Amino acid sequence: MVQKKLIKKKKSNKITSNVLKTDRQILEEIIRVDHAGELGATKIYPGQISVFGKNSEIGKTIQHMADQEQEHIEKFEELIIAERVRPTALLPLWNIAGYALGASTALMGEKTAMACTVAVEKVIGDHYQEQIQLLELDQAKLKKTIKKFADDELEHHNIGISHDAENAPGYKFLTKIIELGCKTAIAISKKI
Ligand SMILES: [Fe+2]
Ligand SMILES: [Fe+2]
Repeated sequence: MVQKKLIKKKKSNKITSNVLKTDRQILEEIIRVDHAGELGATKIYPGQISVFGKNSEIGKTIQHMADQEQEHIEKFEELIIAERVRPTALLPLWNIAGYALGASTALMGEKTAMACTVAVEKVIGDHYQEQIQLLELDQAKLKKTIKKFADDELEHHNIGISHDAENAPGYKFLTKIIELGCKTAIAISKKI
């Protein structure tokens, strides 16, 4: 299903002077949604740190991920200006939702906070992999950036797993709900 969708989307990419050019609409959607997602991510981890404290063991681990999210958002802030892409109108909502998600899962305990990380990073990581397929050679630089960020998100996902996320109470239900929320946010932020 996902593969079919990708093939359909890729077909809209055009060959210009022998280089397959990424469709402008696809490019805009990628930058818009990644900017929104990374902004949300820069709020989730501070939300969790506000509960655990930045000097706690887990707080330091989360801070490492937060620092990488900061790097990610700075890159997309740059791209949104350079490529003249309209940011999503829902940025204020993702700001609040991100922080609330981080703080509320942290209040349920360390394992639940890490379960949140596993769910969010899985969706973002998969989404980045899809985007890598959609970008053509004219966007080689962006492709490289997204590959690097996808590696960071995978690292975050694995940090969650290694911190016993899967033993959080109601792990399966909770991660499904968070994944669904993230996928919905992605679908909306591409367009609006
Ligand atoms: Fe990120
Ligand atoms: Fe991440």
